[in-house]
Amino acid sequence: MTTNHIIDTGAVAAVVSRAGGSIDGPESLVDVSLPAPGLPTGHDVLVDVKAVSVNPVDVKIRASGNRAHKDRVLGWDAAGTVVAVGDEVTRFRSGDEVYYAGSLDRPGSYARRQLVDERIVGHKPTSLGFAEAAALPLTALTAWEALFDKLRLGADSTGTMLVLGAAGGVGSILIQLVKALTDVRVIATASRTETRTWVEGLGADVIVDHRAPDLDRQVLAAAPGGVDYVFTAQSKGRIPLFTKVVRPFGHIVAIDDERDLDLIALKDKAISWHWEFMFARARYNWDLSAQHGALEQLAQLVDAGRIRTTLTQTLAPLNAASLREAHRIVESGGAIGKIVVADPA
Ligand SMILES: NC(=O)c1ccc[n+]([C@@H]2O[C@H](COP(=O)([O-])OP(=O)(O)OC[C@H]3O[C@@H](n4cnc5c(N)ncnc54)[C@H](OP(=O)(O)O)[C@@H]3O)[C@@H](O)[C@H]2O)c1
Repeated sequence: MTTNHIIDTGAVAAVVSRAGGSIDGPESLVDVSLPAPGLPTGHDVLVDVKAVSVNPVDVKIRASGNRAHKDRVLGWDAAGTVVAVGDEVTRFRSGDEVYYAGSLDRPGSYARRQLVDERIVGHKPTSLGFAEAAALPLTALTAWEALFDKLRLGADSTGTMLVLGAAGGVGSILIQLVKALTDVRVIATASRTETRTWVEGLGADVIVDHRAPDLDRQVLAAAPGGVDYVFTAQSKGRIPLFTKVVRPFGHIVAIDDERDLDLIALKDKAISWHWEFMFARARYNWDLSAQHGALEQLAQLVDAGRIRTTLTQTLAPLNAASLREAHRIVESGGAIGKIVVADPA
C-alpha cells in the first residue's frame, strides 16, 4: 500500500475559460480559486502541476465558448509531481515527476492540482526540467500514434514522407521520431527563414515551401516516384496536391479538423487516408496503457539524447495573463515548436 503524502482539502489556484470569442475579451481566461480535486481513487494520480503547454485545441475550445459549463479548466499538456495516488495505481508513487496530456473529457491542466489516470501518464525525462517536459506529451503522443499505430512504421521502414506543418508543435516532434526510429526520409514544409532553420535542425532531409505555387513540383523533384507517406497537420485545400505527389498505394495520416475533403479523389491511386486523434484512447477507454508506454519510451529517447524538447518559448508566471499571451501566439498560426507556461524556475 502506498502512503499519500498530502490531503487536499482547501482551494487551488486555476485559470478558467469563462467566455468564448476573442482572447482579448475580459473573461476569455480568468484567474480563480477552485475547490481542490480531493484524493485520487482507482487508477488516478493527483499531480501538483508545475508547467503546462498550450496547443491549438486549447484555443479552439476556448474560442468556441463553454455553454455546457460556465467555467472550464482547459489545458492538455502538463509536467508536475505526483502528490497522491489511487488504490489501484501501480506505476507511480508520491514524489514521482511525471508528464502527460490527459483527457479532453476531464478538467485540464490550467490548475495547480489535477487528477489524471496513471495509464496515460509517463515518468518525466530526468534530463529535462518541468517546462521542457511539458512541451512534449500531446504532440508526441499524436506523432507516435500517427507513425506507429496508423502508418505502422518500424526500424526497417524506408521510403519518403512529406510532412505538412513541419515547424509546428506536432511536426517538430514527428520529424525527430521519424529520423530516430526509422530509415524514412523526411520532406518538410516551411515557408519562413526561421521555420526552415528550425526543421533543418530537427533533421529534415529536404525542405519545401508550402506557400509557393509549385509545391507539387518541389516535392516531386525530391521524390520523383512520389512520396510513400504524408503526415498532414495542414490539410486545407491539399487533396489535389496529395493526388499528384503520393505514389499508388501510399498512405496519408491527417490530424487537423478539415471538413468537406474530397477523399474519393484518392481512390484512383488506391491511396489510404488515416485519421489520428490522440484523445480517442482516453475518450473511449481504449488501450489506455499504450499512451503510458509511448511516454516512457519517449522519456528514454530524450534521456539518451536521441530526441530533444520542442520547447521554444516559456512564459511566466503560470497565470491567466501568461496563458492569454500563449493563446495569442498559438492562435496566430505561426508558432514554432511549443510554447510553455510555468513559474520561474
Ligand atoms: N488529431 C490530434 O490528435 C491533434 C493533435 C495535435 C494537434 N492537432 C491539430 O493539428 C493542427 C496543427 O497543430 P500544431 O500544434 O502542430 O500547430 P502549430 O504549432 O500551431 O503550427 C504552426 C506552424 O504551422 C506552419 N503552418 C501554418 N500554416 C500552414 C500551412 N497552410 N501549411 C503548412 N504549414 C503551415 C507554420 O510554419 P510556416 O511559418 O513555415 O508556414 C507554423 O510554424 C491543429 O489544427 C491542431 O488542432 C490535432
